[in-house]
Amino acid sequence: MAYDETSQQKRLAARLIGVGGALPKQVVTNDELAARLDTSDEWIRTRTGIRQRHLVSGDEGAVSLARDAAKRALENAGKTAADVEAIIVATSTPDQVFPSVAVRVQAALGMERGFGFDVSAACSGFVYALSMADSLIRSGQAASVLVIGVEVFSRLLDWEDRSTCVLFGDGAGAVLLEKGAGEGEGILSTHLHSDGRLGDLLYVDGAVGCCSGKVALKMQGREVFRHAVVNLAAAVDEALETNGLKGSDIQWMVPHQANLRIIDGMAKKLALPSDRVVVTVDRHANTSAASIPLALAEAVEDGRIKKGDLVLMEALGGGLTWGSALVRM
Ligand code: ACO
Repeated sequence: MAYDETSQQKRLAARLIGVGGALPKQVVTNDELAARLDTSDEWIRTRTGIRQRHLVSGDEGAVSLARDAAKRALENAGKTAADVEAIIVATSTPDQVFPSVAVRVQAALGMERGFGFDVSAACSGFVYALSMADSLIRSGQAASVLVIGVEVFSRLLDWEDRSTCVLFGDGAGAVLLEKGAGEGEGILSTHLHSDGRLGDLLYVDGAVGCCSGKVALKMQGREVFRHAVVNLAAAVDEALETNGLKGSDIQWMVPHQANLRIIDGMAKKLALPSDRVVVTVDRHANTSAASIPLALAEAVEDGRIKKGDLVLMEALGGGLTWGSALVRM
């Protein structure tokens, strides 16, 4: 009997069956930052769209946030941890150098099998992890994968540097992928890019045993902004072209939440009305690898994004790294 590659590929295609988010309890407004820093609510809002951010306190951390988001994604999918075969966590801010956040979450969920690992691609991390999970499923290595983006960027910030500390927040988002997508359903494409020559535009110096001094995020904001506009536009074109689609075919854009001006620019390019763009940057600020799954979870849970909707995700971050994912829910 001939091997039917087409039906085999279809059987293994990945679909997204659950989403969940988790945010730290503590909310810090722009005015609260302005009380201890030379900045203002007006400056932050007009440049970025950010009004507030959630920051960890007490015993909250990357593992606890990732675990809570994963639990919600499983609940949303009607599954339990026993159904999961792999966990991929996108993060630049793990609680420990190792073990990975992924295996700590595996234990926290009570999983007794499967495997887990972390992916480091800064703000593009979730798109990278989604692509890895899709590949694991398509290659038959795992039938169901939890993909989590989690960040505790508050650990990386110089709280006296007004040009960076006002921009970020902490949080986690998770999706559950499972093999067996129907025709035209699930992860339709992912595209990943990086350009290491631009590594110094956005970086955090320091690692265990090297680079003495203060560990803090450094960013050339204007340059990052310029590259974001150009590279994200190209990534969107690439996703549409690969799938034979036009901008008007996209029903929802769930972008990385760095800056409202970048998000508005992408929506304009796709001629998407603003009520078709999921925006959380106003309340969450930039949660890096967590921002896309957190925004997706919000829009699925409040009923905006429904089964069958075509969703475009795009992100750019330190590296520089960037990419897109096109998903039929
Ligand atoms: N409050 C008040 N003034 C400020 C603040 C602040 N928080 N931060 C900077 N300023 C001042 C600067 O000192 C500067 O003053 P000067 O003209 O007297 O020197 C002035 O504001 C303008 O500073 P710029 O950095 O040129 O401001 P810009 O208009 O470029 O906005 C911003 C800065 C918001 C960071 C913008 O460049 C941006 O959004 N860049 C993209 C960053 C991004 O998207 N990063 C995330 C992608 S990667 C990732 O997610 C990790």
